[in-house]
Formats: sequence, C-alpha cells, structure tokens
Amino acid sequence: SENKLQLVHSHIRAFPDFPKEGILFRDICPILKDPAALTAVTDLFEEHVRQNHKQVELIVGLDARGFLFGPLLAQRLGVGFVLIRKKGKLPGATASVAYDLEYGKAEAEVQEDSVAPRQKVLLIDDLLATGGTMYAAIQLMKKQQADILGCMVVIELKELNGVDKLKPHSVFSLVQY
Ligand code: PRP
Ligand code: HPA
Repeated sequence: SENKLQLVHSHIRAFPDFPKEGILFRDICPILKDPAALTAVTDLFEEHVRQNHKQVELIVGLDARGFLFGPLLAQRLGVGFVLIRKKGKLPGATASVAYDLEYGKAEAEVQEDSVAPRQKVLLIDDLLATGGTMYAAIQLMKKQQADILGCMVVIELKELNGVDKLKPHSVFSLVQY
C-alpha cells in the first residue's frame, strides 16, 4: 500500500493562484487519466473501509469530485451511492444547508428519500480544505438521521484545519499537504 500511495501522490499536481490569487490548487485530474492510479485510490479506500467500517450501507459523495471516486468505491463494497449536490440540481423533496467555501459560498442538497434514519453512511470527496463542504454534508446526513461512520478524501490540506471542524467525526485521507 506504500507503493499505491506513492502512485496516487505522483498523480496530483499543484497550480498556484487558481481559481483565485493565494490559492494553491491541488489537481486530481492526472489520477483519473491513469487507470493504475485510479485503481490505487479505490484500493486504498476499499482497504480502509473493510478494516474500519465493515457495517457501511451507503457511500455518500460530494458534488462534484466526490462523484468521481464514490461510485467506484461503492461498487467494490457492494453498497449504494448517494449524491449530495449543489442547490437546484436534484428533483423531488430535498433537504438543504448553506455553507462557506475556501473561495466562495454555496448551498448543498440531498434527496429526502435517499438516506433512511439510522442507515450507516460514509462521506467521500476529493479534497478537504476548510471542511466547510464536508461539514455541510454532515449536517445534511444529520437531518436525514443517518448514522455517520466517517469522512474520506483523497487529499487533506492540513493548514486549513478542516479535520478540527468535523470533530467528533473521523477523517481518512490518502495524501496530506
Ligand atoms: C472543492 C473540493 C471540495 C471543497 C473543499 O469543491 O472538491 O468539495 O472544495 O473545500 P472546503 O473543505 O473548504 O469546503 P468546489 O467547491 O470547488 O466545487 P466543485 O467540486 O464543484 O469543483
Ligand atoms: N484543490 C481542489 N479543490 C479545492 C482546493 C484545492 O486546492 N481547495 C479547495 N477546494
């Protein structure tokens, strides 16, 4: 798994001043372009879930890049995948919550019938920065009365202290900067 982590690490690029001055943007597109790197990401997430969260019933992915990794993991585990989307994209009855971003403001929604009370869920996204997005997703899962097992990301930006914001929920990350 050390080799898999190296493979993942070597497929993350950094772009200074994107999308705004002062932001060093970590880009996961090279992972998706390389089947071996994408397999390594899925393997590492799968190993973590099998070792720590065997009871998981649903993977819940965050708009938009949580959708790239979440369904692959859910299929490996033989569980369903649920989308948390930005406002106005989901039909039917939805629960919603507003949140702040590292570079802006947004509102997240989930379909009310997507998660049942006490269902065991794991949240997944590409990256944890301030934790605002993941915190909003946790609030949505609480509204649904889900049993939140933890959060998973490919990348954690440590200096933004997102992990503290999400306590007592655990955050598993593959790569830290
Ligand atoms: C990025 C990233 C996370 C979030 C992390 O998405 O993919 O979802 O920001 O930041 P935070 O921890 O400070 O909330 P973004 O909002 O840029 O939207 P996108 O996925 O639609 O590109
Ligand atoms: N990369 C990708 N998404 C992000 C970042 C980043 O560095 N910061 C906040 N969202």
